[in-house]
Formats: sequence, structure tokens, C-alpha cells
Amino acid sequence: MKQSISASVAAPSTLPSLSILRKARLSPYLISLLIFILFVSVLYGEDLLCIFGQQLQLNQVPDSPVSGTKEEKQSKKLPFAIGGDHEPELEGCDIFSGKWVWDDSSRPLYDESDCPYLQPQVTCQEHGRPDRDYQFWRWQPEGCSLPSFNATLMLEALRGKRMMFVGDSLNRGQFMSMACLLNSVIPRNASSLHTFGSLSVFTAKEYNATVEFYWAPFLLESNSDNADVHRISDRIVRKGSINKHGKHWKGVDIMVFNTYLWWMTGLKMKIMRGSFDDEVKDIFEVSTEDAYRMGMKAMLRWVQRNMDLNRTRVFFVSMSPSHGKSIDWGGEPGGNCYNQTTMIADPHYWGSDCRRSIMQVIGDVFSKTEIPITLLNITRLSAYRKDAHTSIYKKHWTRPTPEQLANPASYADCVHWCLPGLQDTWNELLFTKLFFP
Ligand SMILES: *[C@@H]1O[C@H](CO)[C@@H](O)[C@H](O)[C@H]1NC(C)=O
Ligand SMILES: *[C@@H]1O[C@H](CO)[C@@H](O)[C@H](O)[C@H]1NC(C)=O
Ligand SMILES: *[C@@H]1O[C@H](CO)[C@@H](O)[C@H](O)[C@H]1NC(C)=O
Ligand SMILES: *[C@@H]1O[C@H](CO)[C@@H](O)[C@H](O)[C@H]1NC(C)=O
Ligand SMILES: *[C@@H]1O[C@H](CO)[C@@H](O)[C@H](O)[C@H]1NC(C)=O
Ligand SMILES: *[C@@H]1O[C@H](CO)[C@@H](O)[C@H](O)[C@H]1NC(C)=O
Repeated sequence: MKQSISASVAAPSTLPSLSILRKARLSPYLISLLIFILFVSVLYGEDLLCIFGQQLQLNQVPDSPVSGTKEEKQSKKLPFAIGGDHEPELEGCDIFSGKWVWDDSSRPLYDESDCPYLQPQVTCQEHGRPDRDYQFWRWQPEGCSLPSFNATLMLEALRGKRMMFVGDSLNRGQFMSMACLLNSVIPRNASSLHTFGSLSVFTAKEYNATVEFYWAPFLLESNSDNADVHRISDRIVRKGSINKHGKHWKGVDIMVFNTYLWWMTGLKMKIMRGSFDDEVKDIFEVSTEDAYRMGMKAMLRWVQRNMDLNRTRVFFVSMSPSHGKSIDWGGEPGGNCYNQTTMIADPHYWGSDCRRSIMQVIGDVFSKTEIPITLLNITRLSAYRKDAHTSIYKKHWTRPTPEQLANPASYADCVHWCLPGLQDTWNELLFTKLFFP
């Protein structure tokens, strides 16, 4: 395991893509080794950056929240906001600061076996997870309480409208959570889910409402854009290319973006000018932070040019933390999220430092824009939840080998989250910011 990680760190840019490998007729053994390396570098991309990127900008990062986003400064009523005296206690409350409280009377918000829209990558109970405690925690902000998620209200607001999640597999998780939350009040057969390439569409028929997910892990065009086959270690993003995907996002009423993990390939990220079809590609490298900043700015420009912000809302979900190294929280060396059933108790826990430098980019970019985009700052509240990952209890991309089975931590997924679970809370926060901004 250790060796594979260092191999993929040492040569992230020199590993050719799998299709080239197949053409070169490498031995099946070598190919399966490389598949494993790619798999590890996808799962632990965040940790890879942290191993080598710890010297990055550590001293420049403030811990205080960046000043509120522009929408909070405006007095004008935002689209979808419920007027009047609803939930006045939310005013001025930072809903992202608080603690997790045990609540088995109202959680989980739906049952895993009742929602047909969960992919087998997130159904932990179905895949043998022995404990269920991770399903019973409710997020309690410090200065207020979250309004309960009202699926009927959400569906009424979406009547004749479209909500879209755009981003990577973590955003797909939040999309599935939203589909299940809404589906819990929809009669059988009155909803459906269909996938067309990069786009998945959940439809609530009686409401003529859709909730959609569009796969674009970098938002911009990249060589990882295939919705099914995208485990490329040598990732390249094309500058100025957001319309390639953005043309499929037009007309959306509520937009939820995320992007993070795929940028974490090491210290540098490859950016391409021109096109992927060019015979000689024009590629340059920039720091992860600069690359990420480019992506964020492209997203904001797309929003400005393509969304009518008088009647639509835009959200951005901050970095989803992973728990690949137990030493980060003072655990036994060599462990990870596998067999973790309790959360991290230290209220100051933040995890690896590289998250801070990216959070700083997000704060920077948002503080300089006039575009009313709402940040769902889920990073810290999720960082406590080392217990909430899918770990080994999911459908795996490749069948675990006997060696892996003997050492389960070696193939635990400490990036993605079980559903129902943590990501339902992300949607409760979205619900709160949508109706009670
Ligand atoms: C998000 O929350 C964390 C922890 O509360 C805070 O340190 C960070 O500054 C926040 N990020 C932004 C962009 O506001
Ligand atoms: C949920 O929202 C619907 C539609 O606005 C409303 O009629 C209902 O009373 C709400 N339910 C609760 C429990 O607040
Ligand atoms: C259904 O919703 C779509 C937008 O998603 C809208 O264009 C269409 O007019 C709606 N149809 C009806 C019958 O309301
Ligand atoms: C749902 O639809 C299927 C076929 O589309 C049908 O067999 C089934 O009886 C329907 N169930 C209900 C409750 O309407
Ligand atoms: C949005 O509303 C403002 C005033 O409320 C108006 O000046 C502006 O033209 C509107 N923008 C669009 C795109 O309709
Ligand atoms: C899981 O953790 C518990 C302690 O929390 C320990 O007793 C047990 O041996 C661990 N199981 C495995 C398979 O590592």
C-alpha cells in the first residue's frame, strides 16, 4: 500500500493513460498493478497532496470565517426566500458552526431500503456495515436550530423548475440524498431516475420538477469527463472551456456546484491551452491553488453570463474532507476510516493543512465577486465525521483481492459517505440557505 502511494506520487505525470497501456500489451499483472495505483491515487488524492504539499502557504491562512457572501449584504429578497417572520432566530446565525447531537427520534430522514435511487456505492447497510450509529446524528448550530427539512415545501418550490448538481462523485452523493429526501413524500411510481451519459435526472412527475446531476469533476473540460471511465492519473484541465459542459446547464433554477478532489494531484496541476484534439498539445503546469482559482473564476463567469440571478439561486459546496490517515486525528498509525464508529471529538479538528489553502482560495474568490453565490461551508462539520464514510461497505469498482480482504483498511473508501447519513445534513443546510437566507 505504502509503496503504491509513493509510486503514484513520484510519477503522477509520467503514468500514461490506461488505453495507451493496453495498446502496449503490458502483462496483465502490470496492468492490474497500475489499475490499483490509479485507484489509490483517486481515493487518496487529497492525502497525496498533503504528504507533499504541507509547506504550502501554511502561515498565511486565517481561521476566522471570511466575511459573509454578497447575498447576505443585500437587503433585496432573494429568489425562493420565504418572507415574513419565518425562523427569525436564523438571522445572523452561522449555521456551519456547531456540534453533532444524537437524535434517534428524527433520524435517519429516510431508510436506506426505502429509496430506490441510492447507488450501491453508498448503501452501507446493504453491503454489510455492522453498525448504524452514523445515521442518527443531527447537526446543531451554535446560535440557532436548523428548520426541519420539508420535502413538500421543496417540491412546491421546484414545481415546473429544475435543480441541478454539477461536479464530482461527492456532489453525486448529495444529489442522491436530495432525490431520496424528496422521494420520501412522493407516491410510488410518481418519480423516476434516468441517466443520459453525464446527466442523471430525477423527476417528480406530479410536480413537473427535476433534480439533476451532471458529471464534471473539474467543471471545466478535462480528460476525466467520461461519466463512467474517468480514473485517469495524469489529469489535464483545459483552460477557458467551461461552456463545453456549461451548455448543458442552461435554464436551471437552482444550481449546486462542487469541485475539489480532482484538483489534488500533487503540487502542480496540468492546464492545457487549445483543444484535446490538437496533435501537439500546449500544456503548462501551475500550482494546485492557482489552478483551482482558475476553475472558481470560470464558474463565476459562467454564472454571470448564463443565469438570471433575479429568479435563480446558486450554491457552492466546499471541500468534502476524507479520512485516509488516522494519525491526523491521533489514531494508531496505519489506520484510516475503516472500523471507525465514533466521530472526532476535538472541536478544533480541521485535518490536513492543504484544505486550508484551498479554503483560502474559495474565500478570496467569493469575497471579490458581486455574484450572489451561497457557500455551503460543510468542510469542518464533515471533518469530524470519520465514522460516516462508506469504508469497505459498498460495491467496489474491482473485487478485493485476498490480500486486501486480509487487511480491510487497505481498500476502505474514506472519501465517499454512506447514505442515509452525513450528506443529508448538507441538504438540510442547503434547504435552510434557500428558504431562510
Ligand atoms: C468555512 O468554515 C471554516 C471553519 O469554520 C472557516 O475556517 C473558513 O474560513 C470558512 N470558509 C469560508 C470561505 O468562509
Ligand atoms: C411543509 O410545507 C408545506 C408546503 O409549504 C406546508 O403546507 C406544511 O405545513 C409544511 N410542513 C411542516 C411540518 O412544516
Ligand atoms: C415543466 O417544467 C419545465 C421546466 O423544467 C417547463 O419548461 C415546462 O413548461 C413545464 N411543463 C408544464 C406542463 O408545466
Ligand atoms: C408501478 O409501475 C409498475 C410498472 O411500471 C407497475 O407494475 C406497478 O403496479 C406500479 N405500482 C403502483 C403502486 O402503481
Ligand atoms: C433584476 O432586477 C433588477 C431590479 O430589481 C433589474 O434592474 C434588472 O434589470 C433585473 N435583471 C434581469 C436580468 O432581469
Ligand atoms: C475495531 O475497533 C475496535 C475498537 O474500537 C477493536 O476492538 C477491534 O479489534 C477493531 N476491529 C478490527 C477488525 O480492526
